[in-house]
This record gives sequence, structure tokens and C-alpha cells, in this order.
Amino acid sequence: SATAAGILAAHTREVADFPKPGVMFKDLTPLFRDPAAFDVVLADIAARWAGQVDVVAGVEARGFIIGAPLALRMGLGFVPIRKAGKLPGDTHARSYDLEYGTATIEVTTDAFTAGHRVLLVDDVLATGGTAAAACDLVEGAGAQVVGLEMLLELSFLGGRDRLPGREVRAILVD
Ligand code: PRP
Ligand code: MG
Repeated sequence: SATAAGILAAHTREVADFPKPGVMFKDLTPLFRDPAAFDVVLADIAARWAGQVDVVAGVEARGFIIGAPLALRMGLGFVPIRKAGKLPGDTHARSYDLEYGTATIEVTTDAFTAGHRVLLVDDVLATGGTAAAACDLVEGAGAQVVGLEMLLELSFLGGRDRLPGREVRAILVD
């Protein structure tokens, strides 16, 4: 909603040259430390997806900050998708490209019920590499990604193009 977008914008801190020269970092920690503001944003997301999903999944680390309170609020479970090597037992894994090198994310093989409708959440959609890998991971594990919810979409990086046919929603588009 326009209210949620305005609140998110008002609680985003822009930090120049982080994590490296030339990058304008969007720091969302002001939102997370303001419970009234964070509540408006979570309520907006919950209302948007109510009745359409069975479980919420989020990608380590910043996706956890949003995903766990959102899931609890919606009365749903939360599945953590973790960076490689953190989860015990049998896991599914997917690798994706970073600017330099690759990263791998994992989920336990027992995380999803077959056919369950998954809402994938993260803080930022940038190049879309993380989100695309997470979608592959969820669907490789037998569940179905019905939508992606991002707080912030950096549209100039074209992340949406790497998620063809996906329902991708962002509270704020830059
Ligand atoms: C950031 C952000 C998203 C991802 C977006 O995570 O939280 O998950 O990058 O980038 P992409 O669309 O280009 O893939 P990061 O991997 O920096 O780690 P963190 O969440 O653990 O801070
Ligand atoms: Mg992340």
C-alpha cells in the first residue's frame, strides 16, 4: 500500500560507498528497530497474501528478519533457506553467481510438504540471483513458489527478468 511504501521509504537509510565505492547501500535497520513502522509493513504483506500461501520461506540472513515475524503473524510456519554448510542432515542445494564467484544456499529435505504453496520473502531484490536460486531450491524440494515479496526492488539491476512468470511484489521500487 502507499502507506507501507511511505513508511518504508522514511525508514530506509542511504549509505554511500558501501559495501564498496560507487554503491549506494539501502540500510533497512531503521525499519526493524521501529516496531510501529515494522508492524505496518508486515501487516501490508500479510494482507496481500492471506489465504494464498501455506508456508513462508526466507533466505539467510536478512530474509529471516522479515520472514519469521511475517509467518508467525499469518499463522504459518517459517522455513529458513540457509547459506551452505549451516543445516544438519540431508539438504537440497543450489548455487548462484555473485559479482565475484558463486554462493550456495540450502534447505533441509524435510522442510516442505509436497505441493505446499510457498511465499518467498527477502529484504531486497537486486540482480535476482538469490531469489531465482531460492525458487529453484523450493521447487526442487517439491513445493510451489506462489509469490515473492521483497521490501525493496532495485529495478535498474533487472532482477525481475531472472524471475520470468513469477509473481514478484515489492513494497518500494527504486
Ligand atoms: C543480499 C540481500 C538479498 C540479496 C539480493 O543478501 O539480502 O538476499 O543480496 O541480491 P541479488 O538479487 O543480487 O541476489 P546477501 O547475499 O548480501 O546476504 P545477507 O542477507 O546475509 O546480508
Ligand atoms: Mg540476503
